[in-house]
Amino acid sequence: MQRPLSILAVAVTLTAPAAGGAHANEAPGAAPTFAKDVAPILYQKCVRCHRQGEIGPMSFLDYKSTRPWARSIQARVVSGEMPPWGATPTSMKMRNDNRLIQDEIDTIVAWVEGGAPPGNDADLPEPPTFTTGWQLGEPDYIFEQPVEWTIKPDGAEPYLYFYQPIPFAQDRWASGLELRPENHAVVHHSGAYIVDIPEGYSVTDGYLHDEDGSQVPPSQPMGRAASSGNDDPLAGANKLLSYVPGRGYESHPDGFAKRIPAGKYIRWVLHYNPTGQVETDRSRLGLWFAKNPVTHEVLNLQAGSPVPKSGGRGLYFSSGQELRYAVNSRRSPARPLIPPYEEAHRVMGITPVNEPITVYSLTPHMHLRGKSMKWWVTYPDGSEEVILDVPEYDFNWQIQYELEMPLKVPAGSKITNVAIYDNSPGNRWNPAPEKPVYWSEQSWDEMYQPTIQFSVDSQDLTKVPATTSQDQ
Ligand code: HEC
Repeated sequence: MQRPLSILAVAVTLTAPAAGGAHANEAPGAAPTFAKDVAPILYQKCVRCHRQGEIGPMSFLDYKSTRPWARSIQARVVSGEMPPWGATPTSMKMRNDNRLIQDEIDTIVAWVEGGAPPGNDADLPEPPTFTTGWQLGEPDYIFEQPVEWTIKPDGAEPYLYFYQPIPFAQDRWASGLELRPENHAVVHHSGAYIVDIPEGYSVTDGYLHDEDGSQVPPSQPMGRAASSGNDDPLAGANKLLSYVPGRGYESHPDGFAKRIPAGKYIRWVLHYNPTGQVETDRSRLGLWFAKNPVTHEVLNLQAGSPVPKSGGRGLYFSSGQELRYAVNSRRSPARPLIPPYEEAHRVMGITPVNEPITVYSLTPHMHLRGKSMKWWVTYPDGSEEVILDVPEYDFNWQIQYELEMPLKVPAGSKITNVAIYDNSPGNRWNPAPEKPVYWSEQSWDEMYQPTIQFSVDSQDLTKVPATTSQDQ
């Protein structure tokens, strides 16, 4: 990637937006080519989704299949829509950030403006190789999605929820986890959660059944999250992991692991994307159990929950007012109630950090009115640091932002999260601006679910017996 740089310098001046369609007369032959300049970018940043059998609707592995999309590629990379990534840069570097750098965007633009030439095949880099099997080798334990789903050729699929009991006699510890579609072309994203099911409910063959034994439709998320309330012994442990194309696994260092609690349920959440043909999928969740004693539990925390949970109460504010605390509902610590037509409804969650923690990743989750989300840490000395800023939240891309360097947050800090919801007609995703919006997992309602993955530094599970039941 050294040589193209000098060419790039030329390309940049030629295609500066103000230049208005300048042509490469001054530098004949300098237009970037597919083989030498563009393929390396596409291979590195796009083909994990844009290749046969993946979620991207076209392949960018060779010139022939890429060429017809040249204009569209230019538009999408210039607008920043591709590759999908919602965050603006902050001082926190993200491990999974595969945005294009400006040089790469300029190269693509110059290539398209220069007629999108193929170049010389001899210059083509080796196509990347992809692990087709499990990323971490054969898992110790595999949960199979309990229902094989058939995806219709077209029409939007609702989010689907399936349930499955965790069959272990005692809690197990997973140091590696992977969520893997069977059919990569149809799984847009998916997630695995740990939940309790509502009292009186049961699970048969992957479906939830209510007190009367009627099956709850798989598009209806009735399962109560095991842990989102502050008073729950498993506070924050509800999310296991999520899959987006190219990223569906996590592996924790020695001594760190996620708890797979006996007696609870795995909830599968699947978002399928039709391909024009009938497709089926049965995703799988692989676990690698910790080989050595686990000292630290890798937990998830929602904004507003204090850490550790014994340390007082987190705070929620909604457009300046304190939110009603949903005491009776373990499903939701906060309850956004967004008035009709409100354009910038603000919800804030403040997490007091009462003892040192280490933060690994941040995941914004809202629904169709979700507009932006931002986190910052206020350190004990009063200084502030933005750790994630997603100014244009896109419900279609559920991205977990993984910190390259885990962030140590000292005791006495607080972590603040602010979300803005747009319930105006100006929000093109808004299904009903005239309605007040309530909290639920249905996509026409809203959620305020800013999740941080972390561990408590002082924890040593080898010293304290790991109990989940007496922890009040
Ligand atoms: C995480 C998966 C993913 C990655 C990475 C990704 N794309 Fe996409 N791309 C998609 C999906 C899914 C669609 C179809 C939905 C949409 O249009 O948003 C798409 C659509 C597109 C389209 C629109 C095609 C049309 O219908 O006009 C273009 C162009 C495109 N991508 C280019 C790129 C380029 C260039 C890169 C790399 C710089 C890239 N994408 C990286 C998943 C991805």
